[in-house]
Amino acid sequence: MTDSGSTTDLLVAADAAAAAWEARLAAMRDQPVYRSYERTRRRVLALLSLGRNRRLTGHAPSDYWSGELDKFEYMLDASPLIVEKLRLHTHNLTGLHANQYRDSLRKHRRRFREKLEALRALDEVDLWVPEPRLLGGFGFDIGGQLVNLDTLKFYEVLIAMHLGAVLTELRETTERKLVWEIGAGWGGFPYQFKKQCPNVTYVITDFPELFLFSATYLMAAFPEAKVRFFGEVPAEDTFDGWRDLDFIFIPDTFHATLRPEQVDLLINMVSFQEMTTQQVDGYVRRAFDLGCPYLYSLNRDRSGHNAELTNVRSIIEKYYWPHPVDMLPVSYTKMLNEDPDEGDSGYKHVVGWRRV
Ligand SMILES: C[S@@+](CC[C@H](N)C(=O)[O-])C[C@H]1O[C@@H](n2cnc3c(N)ncnc32)[C@H](O)[C@@H]1O
Repeated sequence: MTDSGSTTDLLVAADAAAAAWEARLAAMRDQPVYRSYERTRRRVLALLSLGRNRRLTGHAPSDYWSGELDKFEYMLDASPLIVEKLRLHTHNLTGLHANQYRDSLRKHRRRFREKLEALRALDEVDLWVPEPRLLGGFGFDIGGQLVNLDTLKFYEVLIAMHLGAVLTELRETTERKLVWEIGAGWGGFPYQFKKQCPNVTYVITDFPELFLFSATYLMAAFPEAKVRFFGEVPAEDTFDGWRDLDFIFIPDTFHATLRPEQVDLLINMVSFQEMTTQQVDGYVRRAFDLGCPYLYSLNRDRSGHNAELTNVRSIIEKYYWPHPVDMLPVSYTKMLNEDPDEGDSGYKHVVGWRRV
């Protein structure tokens, strides 16, 4: 550039653009959703440092999950632009991408509609909750509502819980209930569950890193919700006043040290199958020891890649009397036109009754 005037103009324009950009990010950082993310991140960093001895205490993630957690370390340094589109980053956990739901994919859209209709036919009490248009929520637009594989999975689970006779009480209760989910991923099921069962305190145990997704998402979806993270009060007070809380986040490392006065239902989906035998046994035995009357599981006996687990069903059976709930002929991962899984390899809905 030889013309010094225009070089100066360019520099001034660049400074102005950078300042405007910084101002936009600063305004976004001031929004409640980003503040929720920052609150979550502070807790996650603290929980990660407390959990440094994971391996010594038998809390190491399974080999499979060690690799998965590395993939989204970037979420510890998420800009407001990432948080604003949080849902587009949950593919790290589910493999679902927004571009799988483009309008032009009409054949796929039809299959999703057919599956939704098949599920509606099993639903006696209107349990459908669509994907909210929140933080980049995506899906096929069916009748003005977003539908994706996650929404269909969670809908199927709610119906199975209803048919397994554990949901009605939680939906209609006038007394506060406590539900504990192990491995809640990005928080999509707690969102649906809380919509259907508002009078429930929903406890989530997961690797702390996952709270970057689930806690941020749930605080955005329920801005009025009262939330507690393990470590925000002395550990022994974690469940103090639990009836007034909507969500409690407990890291896997401290799960076994806590003793809520009641647990009404333990939930696990697509997660026990990826853990070690020791971890699944620890969670199910803990629910049993706490007197939790019911357990719900949607799992394969063992994920194909997981060599550290014996069999989810046989572990559950030690503590809970399993009641399989038959749903569609295909697993949640498949559309109705696809071949069912062979033999015992598919996902099973199981409601367990605590053995006495
Ligand atoms: C495939 S994701 C499923 C998430 C969610 N249940 C769903 O169906 O969308 C598996 C979940 O289990 C969690 N998980 C894996 N091992 C765990 C462990 N030992 N303790 C607690 N959570 C664990 C993962 O962090 C993740 O949230």
